[in-house]
Parts: sequence; structure tokens; C-alpha cells
Amino acid sequence: NKSEHYSAQVRPPGTSRRIPQTIIIGVRKGGTRALLEMLDIHPNIVVAATEVHFFDWDENYVKGIDWYRSLMPFSYGNQITIEKTPGYFTSPQAPERIHDMNSSIKLLLILRDPTERVISDYTQVYYNRVESHKPVQLFEDIVIKNGVLNTKYKAIQRSLYDVHMEKWLKLFSLDQIHIVDGNTLIKDPLPELQKVERFLNLPSRIMSSNFYFNQTKGFYCIRSDGRERCLHESKGRPHPLVNNTVLEQLYSYFREHSAKFYRMVNHSFDWH
Ligand code: A3P
Repeated sequence: NKSEHYSAQVRPPGTSRRIPQTIIIGVRKGGTRALLEMLDIHPNIVVAATEVHFFDWDENYVKGIDWYRSLMPFSYGNQITIEKTPGYFTSPQAPERIHDMNSSIKLLLILRDPTERVISDYTQVYYNRVESHKPVQLFEDIVIKNGVLNTKYKAIQRSLYDVHMEKWLKLFSLDQIHIVDGNTLIKDPLPELQKVERFLNLPSRIMSSNFYFNQTKGFYCIRSDGRERCLHESKGRPHPLVNNTVLEQLYSYFREHSAKFYRMVNHSFDWH
């Protein structure tokens, strides 16, 4: 049972903490938590419990690689360590820093429809602000300023996948970066996870019996090690209904960027 090992304070015999051989670099709100938790089902995968922010936050990066390693779970020699920090994908420093650590590392990137990602990003910030009693704004009032699309809005910037991908492809080859379709992972997780198993050269161990659809949550939940669990309630929150004209403006803004992204990665996605 893997979870027992994680919580143990002492090192299980034959294990050590290892630098990740694979990193989920993003994107924020792409489904990074679901991907990590679902990969954790695999007996040859161990995952870092929290987002480490080593390569994107200077105050952590200066602590050095031993600090980074110390945050990784104990693993056996036949296990792959994975950490996920969604901020890496859009970070200006992360590509070079990861490359400096391990230029042949395998990267996982989970993306979803860019407009949907903006709305999900907004929804997360909205709830965070409500919880800390800060004022909130309507989605439309942030996205449209003086009648035009507010392309400076951070959530829109983060959805410019072509712009960010360009930085990664300067340092890493396309076959080092596996892109998971976040929209597909929501609807039918197993095939997306099997592609990741192949990418990581792992035997196929994740099964359809590891998932069950939870009607109340409206999402798939995980059955593993004799336990059933859904993701935290902050994952899979209802989105606000967005004005159709605003939606169309977002779709048309992202269309060109997505087309450019498809050409970059030699793969098309089913985005608006
Ligand atoms: P929403 O909450 O906007 O629906 P991240 O972990 O990167 O922050 O991504 C969160 C998103 O993961 C959620 O966005 C949700 O759509 C998606 N997701 C994918 N599979 C899920 C699952 N099985 N349970 C909950 N959320 C899931």
C-alpha cells in the first residue's frame, strides 16, 4: 500500500527520495491534479503530495536541488517520481532551469480548451476571493474593457498555449513532451492514462475498474488500494454562465493561437 509508505516518517527499507524523472508542467486548471492522482494509481509511480514551485519561484530555486529532492516521496528503484506544479508551463525561468537539471527529462502537459481554461481560472480566483472576503467582479467585467477584449488579463495570457510552448520547444524536443487532452481526461480518463503509461515506458497497470463515475460530483472518481475517493471539492466546480457575445470574442481570439499551437505540436485538439 503506497499511501502507508508516504505517511511514514521513517524511510522504508530499500527506498530513497529521488529527483523527479517526470514533471507535470501545467497548465493551471488543465486538470493537473486529476492527472497526478490518476497516475498515482500505477504501482511504478510515486507522486509529490504538494505543488513544489521549485523552478518557478526564485525563493525556492535558490534553496538548491537537495531541498527539491527532500520534498519528494520515498521510492523504490523501479518507481518513477512525479511532481506537478502548474505554474511551470507559463514561467519564463522554468524551461531553462528544468533543462539544466535534466535535459532528457520527460514532461507531461495537460491542456484544455483555452476559453474553458480562462473561465475555470476565473472561477478559482472568484472562490478564493469570496473565501477571504475580498470584492469580486463579474467575468464579463474583467474580460471586456472599454468594449474590447482585455487581452492583458492574466487568465487570457495563460491560455496562449502557442506563446508558452515556443519557449519549451527551444530547449526540449517534441517527443520529450507528452500532451494530455484535459477535455478527454474529464470524459473518459483511461485512454489518456494509457497513453501516458506508454510515453513513460511503463507496463499497463491502470484499469477501467480504477474509475467510477460519481453522479453527485459529475466527475470520475478513483478506486485504488481498496479505497474510493473523489478529488477535492475545489476541483470540478460549476462555472458561471458567460454571455454569448463574450464567449464568441474569446473563441475568435484564441482560434489563431490554437491553430499555431496545433502546427507546433503536429497534433490537433477539439477546441473552439
Ligand atoms: P474546474 O473546477 O474548472 O471544472 P487543476 O487541477 O489543474 O487545477 O484542474 C482542475 C480541473 O480538473 C477542474 O476544473 C476539472 O474540470 C478538471 N478535472 C478533470 N478530471 C477531474 C476529475 N476526475 N474530478 C474533478 N475535476 C477534474
